[in-house]
Amino acid sequence: MSGAITPANERLSRPLDSIDIPHKKISKICCIGAGYVGGPTCAVIAYRSPDVTVTIVDLNQARIDAWNSDNLPIYEPGLEEVVKAVRGKNLFFTTDVDTSIREADLVFVSVNTPTKKSGVGAGYAADLGWVESATRHIAKVSTSDKIVVEKSTVPCRTAVSMRKILDSNGKPGCKFDILSNPEFLAEGTAIKDLLAPDRVLIGSLDTPAGRSAAASLADVYANWVPRERVITMNLWSSELSKLAANALLAQRISSINALSAICEATGADVDEVSYAVGLDSRIGPKFLKASVGFGGSCFQKDILNLVYLSESLHLPDVAEYWRQVVEMNESQKRRFTQRVISSLFNTLTGKRLAVLGFAFKKDTGDTRESAAITLIKYFRQEQAKIALYDPKVEASQIWYDLAEPGVVDDATAVKKQVTLCESAYEAAKGADAIIICTEWDEFKDTHLDYQKLYDVMNKPAFVFDGRLILNQKKLEKIGFKVECIGRSRLEETFE
Ligand code: NAD
Ligand code: UDX
Repeated sequence: MSGAITPANERLSRPLDSIDIPHKKISKICCIGAGYVGGPTCAVIAYRSPDVTVTIVDLNQARIDAWNSDNLPIYEPGLEEVVKAVRGKNLFFTTDVDTSIREADLVFVSVNTPTKKSGVGAGYAADLGWVESATRHIAKVSTSDKIVVEKSTVPCRTAVSMRKILDSNGKPGCKFDILSNPEFLAEGTAIKDLLAPDRVLIGSLDTPAGRSAAASLADVYANWVPRERVITMNLWSSELSKLAANALLAQRISSINALSAICEATGADVDEVSYAVGLDSRIGPKFLKASVGFGGSCFQKDILNLVYLSESLHLPDVAEYWRQVVEMNESQKRRFTQRVISSLFNTLTGKRLAVLGFAFKKDTGDTRESAAITLIKYFRQEQAKIALYDPKVEASQIWYDLAEPGVVDDATAVKKQVTLCESAYEAAKGADAIIICTEWDEFKDTHLDYQKLYDVMNKPAFVFDGRLILNQKKLEKIGFKVECIGRSRLEETFE
């Protein structure tokens, strides 16, 4: 088949259960890091592997308490059902890191790896401080052999550093095997993704010990993932594949967002363009939805990481290529803001903007790198008043994000300009414009009564659809002036 990728080496194409190598059965797993990845991933492992005891540990007592309560620290469809089914049976949450590591056969390192804020590589490189301290901790407290698994997204060759730390700090007689097992779940669909992954990737050294460790981990996934979806490869390919997957996904969004700018200037409709190009099976329909810009804790961080890696490898053209994906994303947010300003008669001063959505995408309460944070910053700089509503994000998180250094200098000024609302209706009262930042289903015109919103707004009443979730014609019939990403209002001038 033309264009198909064939495995580069024999191991890739060999189903794992034919790796005829003795390997240990895993009965106890420790997961370091009870965050967006560690929590759902290991909850699903416990749910699908009744013979395995899974303990998720974190240094953050409040987070662990929340995992042990009825109010989980993460909003994720289906998560509560999974946790409630196994918590206290074969799934445990604790801050007793030492005991959990000591008892485990296999330890997932699922800690945060944010972009460095200062020092060498600031703004690009991943901060591996948490990975290093978790690795040192494993070395320090382990009294038996462990399989140590990189679950966090890390730069290529991080396993080398982990190996050195473990070898030079471990107790004599303790053997550590390192695997890379990057996580591909997306927030909002994490449980669905984990229960039926496109693939599970396990990277190991191509040595008997490495392959044996990979086979042990593969057996755990085999409790619910078809064997052919569990693929093994070398450690470095596995580490790089995670960065590559995120870079390619984000690149598609920046590509369609770049095209959305052309659509707005020409009268083409970006949704129609996406549909047309996505029907080509070589392109496919996913990740072609134009938006106010991608957010989330991964895309920007991982591309910047790739940029840093490229620069470190003396590949400036490669670095520049990937940097543009992030730059396009920033430009999309600036362009959207400019459209709001120019539509609202070139001034936002004193105007009330009803901002709907603060999470970086629907079905999550996560706000990391959410486009809404940047947009609200820009609107504030134009002296607008913001009335904000999001169905899931906690008020404390919103204030934290809006007052972050780099977003604002004076945190007290934020509260004078931003009001948090309990509903879209409350936000729309007296507003000049509604701005859709997150594609929550409840913001669609099939769920929300836009006539009711229109009635309480200043006129002319504008809607800016940054997510392409609204029926433009329906809203125009009500009387709204509707501005959508990737669509111009040129047809008006043709009529
Ligand atoms: P997170 O910040 O939600 O969770 C990390 C947790 O690790 C925190 O609760 C922190 O307290 C804990 N921690 C840090 N150091 C520790 C230590 N030494 N001992 C015990 N606990 C410790 O981060 P996340 O979103 O879960 O991401 C974790 C990793 O997974 C990152 O590398 C990220 O890039 C990657 N990843 C994230 C996603 C996603 O959608 N969020 C998807 C795939 C991969
Ligand atoms: C991403 C990857 O999809 C996942 O595989 C990886 O493990 C972690 O990073 P996540 O960030 O949770 O997952 O969500 P994703 O669905 O990828 O969306 C990221 C951002 O892109 C969101 O802001 C979303 O709204 C935006 N997006 C997504 C678009 O603007 N258009 C699209 O077509 C798809």
